[in-house]
Amino acid sequence: MTTTATSLLAHRAIAAGPPKLEPDALLTAQQQTLDTPRLKYSLLAKMMFKPVDLLYGKQGSLTKFVVLEIIARVPYQAWERVGYWAVHRYAARSAVARRVFDRIVEARADQDNEQWHLLILQDLVQRNGTKQTWLLHRAIPWLIAFFYYHVSWILFLIKPRWSYRLNAEFEDHAEHEYMTFVAGHPELADLPDPGTYAAEYGRHRSLADLLRQIGHDERIHKASSLANITSPRISQPEPDLDTAA
Ligand SMILES: [Fe+2]
Ligand SMILES: [Fe+2]
Repeated sequence: MTTTATSLLAHRAIAAGPPKLEPDALLTAQQQTLDTPRLKYSLLAKMMFKPVDLLYGKQGSLTKFVVLEIIARVPYQAWERVGYWAVHRYAARSAVARRVFDRIVEARADQDNEQWHLLILQDLVQRNGTKQTWLLHRAIPWLIAFFYYHVSWILFLIKPRWSYRLNAEFEDHAEHEYMTFVAGHPELADLPDPGTYAAEYGRHRSLADLLRQIGHDERIHKASSLANITSPRISQPEPDLDTAA
């Protein structure tokens, strides 16, 4: 393999996101999700979940998941934008600028991961031959995403933990939607993962495992947002090691 090809694979691996699990671990992950109560959802979260349930059905479906994935990406885009602005703002404080940049890297990786989810789900919908309309499957998801994007950066500027909490609720919702869907459709275990994006996302034993993996990714996204809620403010000064000793 050439150096370029090796570098390209390494580069793609970074964008692949959370770890890929083996079939047994995916089954365990599904059960863990089903055994874990959902987070308590805020009014803002419900303002997105309710129209999605009304328009695309309360039960999970591949077309509904495409809509969720269109929306899921935007807080990471919002944080990335605010992050680049903050890097410049704190350019004179290297420790803070570096911490901000770490968050940007994390937001970019999660954004890419959501992008793969979207491409995989859209591919599955097309393979199924399910009809999508411009209004229901493009315009309305875009409107909800537009709302979520602006809410995300505004909350982030006021209090970053509010924005992280809202995203954690969205990710928790997505995690439960995927795992509940797979649990309710045992036939998915006999359907193959078409592997359209296998080079970037990996290939799973079955369609059930592919969707469980996506559900597990959502759990990691949730955990990351919850961790960011409790981590200290990014602009907080680093402890002075000389005086702390
Ligand atoms: Fe996703
Ligand atoms: Fe996610």
